[in-house]
Amino acid sequence: MNVKKVFVVGAGFMGSGIVENVAAKGLQAVAYDISQAQLDKSKKGITKNLERLAAKGKIQESDKDATLSRIEYVTDISACKDADVVIEAVAENKDLKISIMREIEKYAKEEAVIASNTSSISITSLGSVFKNPERFVGMHFFSPVPRMPLMEIVRGYQTGDEALSIAKDLGEFLGKACIIAKDEAGFIVNRMLLPMLNEACFLVERGIGTIEEIDTGCKMGLNHPMGPLELMDMIGIDVELAVMEVLHEEIGDPKYRPAVSLRRMVDSGFLGKKAGIGFYVYHEDGTKTPNPKLLKLR
Ligand SMILES: NC(=O)c1ccc[n+]([C@@H]2O[C@H](COP(=O)([O-])OP(=O)(O)OC[C@H]3O[C@@H](n4cnc5c(N)ncnc54)[C@H](O)[C@@H]3O)[C@@H](O)[C@H]2O)c1
Repeated sequence: MNVKKVFVVGAGFMGSGIVENVAAKGLQAVAYDISQAQLDKSKKGITKNLERLAAKGKIQESDKDATLSRIEYVTDISACKDADVVIEAVAENKDLKISIMREIEKYAKEEAVIASNTSSISITSLGSVFKNPERFVGMHFFSPVPRMPLMEIVRGYQTGDEALSIAKDLGEFLGKACIIAKDEAGFIVNRMLLPMLNEACFLVERGIGTIEEIDTGCKMGLNHPMGPLELMDMIGIDVELAVMEVLHEEIGDPKYRPAVSLRRMVDSGFLGKKAGIGFYVYHEDGTKTPNPKLLKLR
Protein backbone atom coordinates (compact mmCIF):
# COMPACT_ATOMS: atom_id res chain seq x y z
CA MET A 1 0.00 0.00 0.00
CA ASN A 2 1.39 3.39 -1.01
CA VAL A 3 -0.62 5.54 1.40
CA LYS A 4 1.68 7.21 3.95
CA LYS A 5 -0.31 10.21 5.12
CA VAL A 6 -4.05 10.56 5.77
CA PHE A 7 -5.68 13.96 6.33
CA VAL A 8 -9.00 13.88 8.19
CA VAL A 9 -11.41 16.82 7.89
CA GLY A 10 -13.49 17.23 11.08
CA ALA A 11 -12.08 16.10 14.44
CA GLY A 12 -15.42 15.17 16.03
CA PHE A 13 -16.44 11.72 17.20
CA MET A 14 -15.73 9.95 13.90
CA GLY A 15 -12.81 12.06 12.70
CA SER A 16 -10.97 11.49 16.00
CA GLY A 17 -11.57 7.75 15.76
CA ILE A 18 -10.25 7.65 12.18
CA VAL A 19 -7.15 9.64 13.15
CA GLU A 20 -6.45 7.31 16.09
CA ASN A 21 -6.92 4.20 13.93
CA VAL A 22 -4.67 5.55 11.14
CA ALA A 23 -1.87 6.57 13.52
CA ALA A 24 -2.09 3.34 15.54
CA LYS A 25 -1.43 1.39 12.34
CA GLY A 26 1.77 3.35 11.69
CA LEU A 27 0.63 5.97 9.15
CA GLN A 28 0.97 9.75 9.50
CA ALA A 29 -2.40 11.26 10.48
CA VAL A 30 -3.55 14.87 10.41
CA ALA A 31 -6.69 16.01 12.22
CA TYR A 32 -8.17 19.22 10.81
CA ASP A 33 -11.07 21.15 12.35
CA ILE A 34 -12.33 24.73 12.26
CA SER A 35 -12.58 24.63 16.03
CA GLN A 36 -9.37 24.65 18.12
CA ALA A 37 -11.47 23.59 21.12
CA GLN A 38 -12.62 20.52 19.18
CA LEU A 39 -9.01 19.69 18.26
CA ASP A 40 -8.00 19.96 21.93
CA LYS A 41 -10.90 17.68 22.87
CA SER A 42 -9.91 15.23 20.13
CA LYS A 43 -6.28 15.12 21.33
CA LYS A 44 -7.39 14.58 24.92
CA GLY A 45 -9.80 11.79 23.91
CA ILE A 46 -7.26 9.96 21.75
CA THR A 47 -4.59 10.22 24.47
CA LYS A 48 -7.05 8.86 27.06
CA ASN A 49 -8.03 5.92 24.82
CA LEU A 50 -4.40 4.97 24.24
CA GLU A 51 -3.55 5.35 27.94
CA ARG A 52 -6.44 3.02 28.76
CA LEU A 53 -5.16 0.42 26.27
CA ALA A 54 -1.63 0.70 27.69
CA ALA A 55 -2.92 0.36 31.27
CA LYS A 56 -4.78 -2.82 30.27
CA GLY A 57 -1.61 -4.18 28.66
CA LYS A 58 -3.21 -4.25 25.19
CA ILE A 59 -0.48 -2.01 23.78
CA GLN A 60 3.01 -1.10 24.98
CA GLU A 61 3.70 2.32 26.50
CA SER A 62 6.10 2.90 23.57
CA ASP A 63 3.29 2.12 21.04
CA LYS A 64 1.13 4.74 22.71
CA ASP A 65 3.87 7.37 22.45
CA ALA A 66 4.68 6.44 18.86
CA THR A 67 0.99 6.64 17.86
CA LEU A 68 0.61 10.06 19.48
CA SER A 69 3.76 11.32 17.77
CA ARG A 70 2.31 10.43 14.36
CA ILE A 71 -0.72 12.74 14.83
CA GLU A 72 -0.75 16.41 13.89
CA TYR A 73 -3.65 18.75 14.76
CA VAL A 74 -4.24 21.70 12.41
CA THR A 75 -6.75 24.48 11.75
CA ASP A 76 -5.49 25.15 8.21
CA ILE A 77 -7.02 22.99 5.49
CA SER A 78 -4.18 23.78 3.05
CA ALA A 79 -2.10 21.37 5.19
CA CYS A 80 -3.78 18.57 3.19
CA LYS A 81 -1.41 19.32 0.31
CA ASP A 82 0.93 16.38 0.93
CA ALA A 83 -1.70 13.82 2.03
CA ASP A 84 -2.23 10.68 -0.06
CA VAL A 85 -5.82 10.28 1.13
CA VAL A 86 -8.16 12.96 2.49
CA ILE A 87 -11.17 11.72 4.47
CA GLU A 88 -14.02 14.14 5.19
CA ALA A 89 -15.89 13.57 8.47
CA VAL A 90 -17.79 16.81 9.19
CA ALA A 91 -21.47 16.97 10.16
CA GLU A 92 -24.03 15.12 8.00
CA ASN A 93 -25.00 18.20 5.97
CA LYS A 94 -24.74 18.19 2.19
CA ASP A 95 -24.07 21.93 1.72
CA LEU A 96 -21.33 21.86 4.35
CA LYS A 97 -19.74 18.79 2.80
CA ILE A 98 -19.83 20.37 -0.68
CA SER A 99 -18.13 23.53 0.58
CA ILE A 100 -15.45 21.34 2.22
CA MET A 101 -14.94 19.38 -1.04
CA ARG A 102 -14.30 22.65 -2.88
CA GLU A 103 -11.68 23.62 -0.31
CA ILE A 104 -10.00 20.22 -0.44
CA GLU A 105 -9.84 20.34 -4.22
CA LYS A 106 -7.95 23.65 -4.05
CA TYR A 107 -5.09 22.20 -2.00
CA ALA A 108 -4.92 18.39 -2.27
CA LYS A 109 -2.37 16.95 -4.68
CA GLU A 110 -3.87 15.72 -7.94
CA GLU A 111 -3.20 12.05 -7.31
CA ALA A 112 -4.68 12.10 -3.78
CA VAL A 113 -7.85 10.09 -3.23
CA ILE A 114 -10.65 12.07 -1.58
CA ALA A 115 -13.19 10.18 0.52
CA SER A 116 -16.26 10.98 2.58
CA ASN A 117 -17.35 9.19 5.74
CA THR A 118 -20.96 10.25 5.10
CA SER A 119 -23.59 7.88 6.50
CA SER A 120 -26.18 8.57 3.86
CA ILE A 121 -25.46 11.44 1.44
CA SER A 122 -24.95 10.42 -2.18
CA ILE A 123 -21.28 9.89 -3.05
CA THR A 124 -22.15 10.65 -6.68
CA SER A 125 -23.57 14.06 -5.76
CA LEU A 126 -20.62 14.99 -3.51
CA GLY A 127 -18.15 13.71 -6.13
CA SER A 128 -19.70 15.82 -8.89
CA VAL A 129 -18.05 18.86 -7.27
CA PHE A 130 -14.60 17.70 -8.44
CA LYS A 131 -13.00 18.37 -11.80
CA ASN A 132 -12.01 14.71 -11.66
CA PRO A 133 -14.85 12.86 -9.88
CA GLU A 134 -13.04 9.54 -10.43
CA ARG A 135 -10.83 10.38 -7.42
CA PHE A 136 -13.80 10.47 -5.02
CA VAL A 137 -15.15 7.49 -3.04
CA GLY A 138 -17.16 6.73 0.10
CA MET A 139 -15.25 5.30 3.08
CA HIS A 140 -17.90 4.68 5.69
CA PHE A 141 -16.40 3.79 9.06
CA PHE A 142 -18.38 2.51 12.06
CA SER A 143 -18.17 3.78 15.60
CA PRO A 144 -16.11 3.46 17.70
CA VAL A 145 -13.72 3.46 14.73
CA PRO A 146 -10.62 1.92 16.36
CA ARG A 147 -12.69 -1.08 17.49
CA MET A 148 -15.29 -1.69 14.77
CA PRO A 149 -14.06 -4.14 12.16
CA LEU A 150 -16.13 -3.03 9.15
CA MET A 151 -15.79 -0.43 6.44
CA GLU A 152 -18.35 0.17 3.72
CA ILE A 153 -16.74 1.41 0.56
CA VAL A 154 -19.22 3.28 -1.57
CA ARG A 155 -18.81 3.48 -5.31
CA GLY A 156 -20.40 6.61 -6.76
CA TYR A 157 -21.46 6.56 -10.41
CA GLN A 158 -18.20 8.29 -11.33
CA THR A 159 -15.83 6.73 -8.79
CA GLY A 160 -12.77 5.31 -10.57
CA ASP A 161 -11.43 1.78 -10.06
CA GLU A 162 -8.14 3.16 -8.75
CA ALA A 163 -9.76 5.27 -6.01
CA LEU A 164 -11.92 2.29 -5.03
CA SER A 165 -8.93 0.01 -4.83
CA ILE A 166 -6.84 2.51 -2.80
CA ALA A 167 -9.76 2.96 -0.38
CA LYS A 168 -10.10 -0.81 -0.02
CA ASP A 169 -6.35 -1.32 0.52
CA LEU A 170 -6.35 1.43 3.15
CA GLY A 171 -9.45 -0.02 4.85
CA GLU A 172 -7.84 -3.45 5.02
CA PHE A 173 -4.58 -1.95 6.26
CA LEU A 174 -6.58 -0.32 9.06
CA GLY A 175 -7.86 -3.78 10.02
CA LYS A 176 -11.31 -3.55 8.47
CA ALA A 177 -13.31 -6.05 6.48
CA CYS A 178 -14.42 -4.02 3.45
CA ILE A 179 -17.76 -4.41 1.76
CA ILE A 180 -18.59 -2.50 -1.41
CA ALA A 181 -21.94 -0.72 -1.48
CA LYS A 182 -23.87 0.85 -4.31
CA ASP A 183 -24.61 4.58 -3.96
CA GLU A 184 -28.16 4.45 -2.54
CA ALA A 185 -29.29 6.27 0.60
CA GLY A 186 -28.01 4.53 3.73
CA PHE A 187 -25.82 2.18 1.65
CA ILE A 188 -25.98 -1.36 3.15
CA VAL A 189 -25.75 -1.12 6.93
CA ASN A 190 -27.66 2.09 7.69
CA ARG A 191 -30.41 1.07 5.27
CA MET A 192 -31.10 -1.82 7.67
CA LEU A 193 -30.14 -0.18 10.96
CA LEU A 194 -31.77 3.26 10.78
CA PRO A 195 -35.37 2.06 10.35
CA MET A 196 -34.87 -0.13 13.42
CA LEU A 197 -33.50 2.76 15.49
CA ASN A 198 -36.34 4.99 14.28
CA GLU A 199 -38.83 2.30 15.32
CA ALA A 200 -37.26 2.28 18.80
CA CYS A 201 -38.09 6.02 18.99
CA PHE A 202 -41.75 5.19 18.22
CA LEU A 203 -41.69 2.65 21.09
CA VAL A 204 -40.46 5.40 23.43
CA GLU A 205 -43.06 7.88 22.14
CA ARG A 206 -45.87 5.37 22.63
CA GLY A 207 -44.59 4.20 26.02
CA ILE A 208 -44.54 0.59 24.86
CA GLY A 209 -41.58 -0.03 27.13
CA THR A 210 -39.32 2.05 29.33
CA ILE A 211 -36.01 3.30 27.95
CA GLU A 212 -34.19 0.53 29.80
CA GLU A 213 -36.70 -2.15 28.80
CA ILE A 214 -36.37 -1.28 25.12
CA ASP A 215 -32.58 -1.54 25.33
CA THR A 216 -32.73 -4.73 27.39
CA GLY A 217 -35.17 -6.23 24.85
CA CYS A 218 -32.68 -5.72 22.07
CA LYS A 219 -29.65 -6.86 24.01
CA MET A 220 -31.18 -10.00 25.55
CA GLY A 221 -33.69 -10.89 22.86
CA LEU A 222 -31.64 -10.13 19.76
CA ASN A 223 -28.16 -10.57 21.24
CA HIS A 224 -27.13 -7.04 20.21
CA PRO A 225 -24.17 -5.68 22.21
CA MET A 226 -26.01 -2.38 22.77
CA GLY A 227 -29.67 -1.42 22.87
CA PRO A 228 -31.01 0.90 20.13
CA LEU A 229 -31.36 3.88 22.48
CA GLU A 230 -27.85 3.48 23.88
CA LEU A 231 -26.58 3.12 20.32
CA MET A 232 -28.38 6.28 19.15
CA ASP A 233 -26.88 8.16 22.10
CA MET A 234 -23.43 6.98 21.06
CA ILE A 235 -23.93 7.85 17.38
CA GLY A 236 -25.52 11.25 18.14
CA ILE A 237 -29.24 12.09 17.92
CA ASP A 238 -28.49 14.91 15.43
CA VAL A 239 -26.64 12.44 13.20
CA GLU A 240 -29.57 9.98 13.44
CA LEU A 241 -32.06 12.65 12.43
CA ALA A 242 -29.92 13.87 9.53
CA VAL A 243 -29.51 10.33 8.18
CA MET A 244 -33.25 9.53 8.51
CA GLU A 245 -34.04 12.74 6.65
CA VAL A 246 -31.80 11.69 3.76
CA LEU A 247 -33.38 8.20 3.67
CA HIS A 248 -36.87 9.73 3.68
CA GLU A 249 -36.09 12.35 1.06
CA GLU A 250 -34.25 10.00 -1.31
CA ILE A 251 -36.40 6.90 -1.05
CA GLY A 252 -39.69 8.68 -0.45
CA ASP A 253 -41.38 5.76 1.31
CA PRO A 254 -43.24 6.98 4.47
CA LYS A 255 -41.69 4.12 6.43
CA TYR A 256 -38.48 6.20 6.52
CA ARG A 257 -40.17 9.26 8.07
CA PRO A 258 -38.06 10.38 11.06
CA ALA A 259 -39.79 9.94 14.43
CA VAL A 260 -41.04 13.25 15.82
CA SER A 261 -39.14 12.58 19.05
CA LEU A 262 -35.83 12.72 17.12
CA ARG A 263 -36.61 16.31 16.09
CA ARG A 264 -37.78 17.25 19.58
CA MET A 265 -34.65 15.79 21.12
CA VAL A 266 -32.39 17.72 18.74
CA ASP A 267 -34.36 20.91 19.50
CA SER A 268 -33.90 20.22 23.22
CA GLY A 269 -30.13 19.69 22.93
CA PHE A 270 -30.55 16.01 23.87
CA LEU A 271 -27.86 15.04 21.35
CA GLY A 272 -26.64 11.89 23.10
CA LYS A 273 -23.43 10.99 24.87
CA LYS A 274 -21.41 13.85 23.36
CA ALA A 275 -23.83 16.35 25.00
CA GLY A 276 -24.05 14.38 28.25
CA ILE A 277 -27.79 13.84 27.65
CA GLY A 278 -29.86 11.93 25.13
CA PHE A 279 -32.12 9.00 25.90
CA TYR A 280 -29.93 8.72 28.99
CA VAL A 281 -28.19 11.24 31.23
CA TYR A 282 -24.43 10.51 31.46
CA HIS A 283 -22.91 11.08 34.89
CA GLU A 284 -19.34 12.01 35.89
CA ASP A 285 -18.77 8.58 37.47
CA GLY A 286 -19.43 6.81 34.15
CA THR A 287 -22.97 5.63 35.02
CA LYS A 288 -26.11 6.58 33.11
CA THR A 289 -29.79 6.88 33.99
CA PRO A 290 -32.85 7.40 31.74
CA ASN A 291 -33.49 11.01 30.75
CA PRO A 292 -36.18 12.18 33.24
CA LYS A 293 -37.65 14.61 30.69
CA LEU A 294 -38.44 11.72 28.34
CA LEU A 295 -39.88 9.63 31.17
CA LYS A 296 -42.43 12.39 31.81
CA LEU A 297 -43.78 11.91 28.28
CA ARG A 298 -45.12 8.47 29.16
N1 LIG B 1 -21.59 9.24 14.72
C1 LIG B 1 -21.48 8.04 14.14
O1 LIG B 1 -21.60 6.99 14.76
C2 LIG B 1 -21.17 7.97 12.65
C3 LIG B 1 -20.89 6.72 12.07
C4 LIG B 1 -20.52 6.67 10.72
C5 LIG B 1 -20.46 7.83 9.98
N2 LIG B 1 -20.76 9.03 10.57
C6 LIG B 1 -20.67 10.25 9.75
O2 LIG B 1 -19.46 10.91 10.08
C7 LIG B 1 -19.62 12.33 9.90
C8 LIG B 1 -19.23 13.05 11.19
O3 LIG B 1 -20.05 12.60 12.24
P1 LIG B 1 -19.62 12.78 13.77
O4 LIG B 1 -20.52 11.93 14.57
O5 LIG B 1 -18.14 12.63 13.89
O6 LIG B 1 -19.99 14.33 14.00
P2 LIG B 1 -19.42 15.36 15.10
O7 LIG B 1 -20.46 16.39 15.27
O8 LIG B 1 -18.91 14.62 16.30
O9 LIG B 1 -18.13 16.01 14.39
C9 LIG B 1 -18.19 16.90 13.32
C10 LIG B 1 -16.93 17.76 13.37
O10 LIG B 1 -16.88 18.58 12.19
C11 LIG B 1 -16.34 19.84 12.56
N3 LIG B 1 -16.68 20.83 11.53
C12 LIG B 1 -17.88 21.40 11.30
N4 LIG B 1 -17.76 22.26 10.27
C13 LIG B 1 -16.48 22.19 9.85
C14 LIG B 1 -15.76 22.84 8.81
N5 LIG B 1 -16.34 23.70 8.01
N6 LIG B 1 -14.46 22.52 8.66
C15 LIG B 1 -13.85 21.63 9.49
N7 LIG B 1 -14.49 20.98 10.47
C16 LIG B 1 -15.79 21.27 10.65
C17 LIG B 1 -16.95 20.13 13.92
O11 LIG B 1 -16.20 21.12 14.62
C18 LIG B 1 -16.89 18.75 14.57
O12 LIG B 1 -15.66 18.57 15.25
C19 LIG B 1 -21.07 12.55 9.46
O13 LIG B 1 -21.12 12.60 8.07
C20 LIG B 1 -21.75 11.28 9.98
O14 LIG B 1 -22.91 10.95 9.25
C21 LIG B 1 -21.11 9.13 11.88
